[in-house]
Amino acid sequence: MWLTVVLVVVVVLLLVYAVTHQPDDKGMPPGPKGLPLVGNLFDLLREDSITFFARLAEKHGPLYSVQLGLRRVVVINSSHWLTQAFVRQGDMFNHRPRGTVLSFIMGGKGIADAEDRVWRESRRFTLHVLRDFGLGKQSVEEFVNRELHDFLEATQKKIGQPYNLHYDLATSVLNIVWHMFVGERFAMEDKNLRWIVDSLEMSLTLVEQGGFLNYTPVLQFIGTFIKPKAFKVGYNVIHRLDYFTELIEKHKVNLDNPERGFDFMYQYLLEQRRQLQQGKTDTIFTDNQLKWLVSDLFIVGLDTTVTTLRWCFLFLIRHPEIQDKLYQELEVNIGTDRLPTYEDRVRMPYTEAFITEVFRYGSITPLAMHGNPEETTLGGYRIPKRTWIVGNIWGIHWDKKIWGDPENFRPERFLDDDGQIIRSEHVLPFSVGRRNCLGESLARIETFQFLMGMLQKYEFGIPVGHSRPTTKFNCGVTLNPCEFEVLLTERFAKVG
Ligand code: HEM
Repeated sequence: MWLTVVLVVVVVLLLVYAVTHQPDDKGMPPGPKGLPLVGNLFDLLREDSITFFARLAEKHGPLYSVQLGLRRVVVINSSHWLTQAFVRQGDMFNHRPRGTVLSFIMGGKGIADAEDRVWRESRRFTLHVLRDFGLGKQSVEEFVNRELHDFLEATQKKIGQPYNLHYDLATSVLNIVWHMFVGERFAMEDKNLRWIVDSLEMSLTLVEQGGFLNYTPVLQFIGTFIKPKAFKVGYNVIHRLDYFTELIEKHKVNLDNPERGFDFMYQYLLEQRRQLQQGKTDTIFTDNQLKWLVSDLFIVGLDTTVTTLRWCFLFLIRHPEIQDKLYQELEVNIGTDRLPTYEDRVRMPYTEAFITEVFRYGSITPLAMHGNPEETTLGGYRIPKRTWIVGNIWGIHWDKKIWGDPENFRPERFLDDDGQIIRSEHVLPFSVGRRNCLGESLARIETFQFLMGMLQKYEFGIPVGHSRPTTKFNCGVTLNPCEFEVLLTERFAKVG
């Protein structure tokens, strides 16, 4: 009896709360009506957010709004509106939405979820250091090739057998960023490596960036943190930050050592010292911010690049004819006696078309979630203060009206009759505007070098008894292809 009373009271309170907190959608971009009180929320239990947002765009156009729980979210599904919002009105829309599961986990620290001064200064500084790598003792390409060399050695042991290269690849890519940002590298067999790689990769699979849980204030915590892997992620974050504290101390001891390296952490600590010497007591360059910043860079820099390369390898296996064309272009322009250089790509339109098609098809980071701190307008529509703006990159990359057959993997769609590259304004894997990916050049170099390095040495095939790998994906913050195994056959070239 009492239980029934309690339940009825809870339901009534929830209803009153929902009724009094309905979003004010006056003047907002039009969109579906949905159910009373919750809108289209329950659709997100039936399909993943990216296909849901793209499906609604077919009916409601490239700029619409949809009620999800107690929020009316604005969805952008075209490059025109993405550029209008994130570039032309970038000052207003370069914020992150507050209240998402991801914003709770990232807590506004670091860079990807940071705001205002912390974000602006961290971003400017990080871009500056990334640019300077080319001018320092070691260029980005050298960092990449160092790890490519070890990766090729590791794969050598797997020739002729079914091989899931995911873990070795993640290890090598981690080593690139780890070396650049904190000055260390790990041996491939280092036992510390597995937890670092696992914990970084797991962070981005814990939540679906635009998924159901984001719009349910109470359920979002229960639903996210009840997962066993949430405890693991939480524990790993603490462990990782402790490790960065140790590294910061080691870097501080060596800061004036002329023999020290030129990594990101040193550059940050030098800037910190400079600002403190100038009497800037409110500097954002604190040890704590450094830990979160480096942690963010590893999270966003690892899984995205590994996933891109896994999509590349998956399509090589699925399409032997495409693999042959890539190899022919490679043989003519690079040969097999030296490692590729990033310069080589300008003479290789087919390869560029292939990588562009991977970025389109794979849409590695499918959603760019932004917010606006003040009420504003977009395309003449009212956008209330603190609306969530969902840039559906996947939806643009898979728009039938633009591509005709988006479901087919076809590098040729980016080549003209003379075999020259066609650049499309509708391919935006790194997003646009002031909040766009700041690791784009690094990611492009990594993708080209690793793809070419592997193709130079191996032919990719399907292991005996295995079926063709599927293009189905798991939708977290990134779109990950399902695990697959490859059969590597050596091309008998002396490379690496
Ligand atoms: C192929 C690989 C990658 C893809 C497809 C990718 C894509 C993206 C996308 C779509 C965003 C969101 C932009 C927005 O909200 O408008 C982003 C943000 C970001 N990416 Fe990447 N990324 C990749 C690799 C990297 C790498 C290697 C790094 C650095 C080590 C990196 C660092 C960042 C950072 C720091 C942000 C947040 C920027 C900000 O909030 O100001 N990314 N990336």
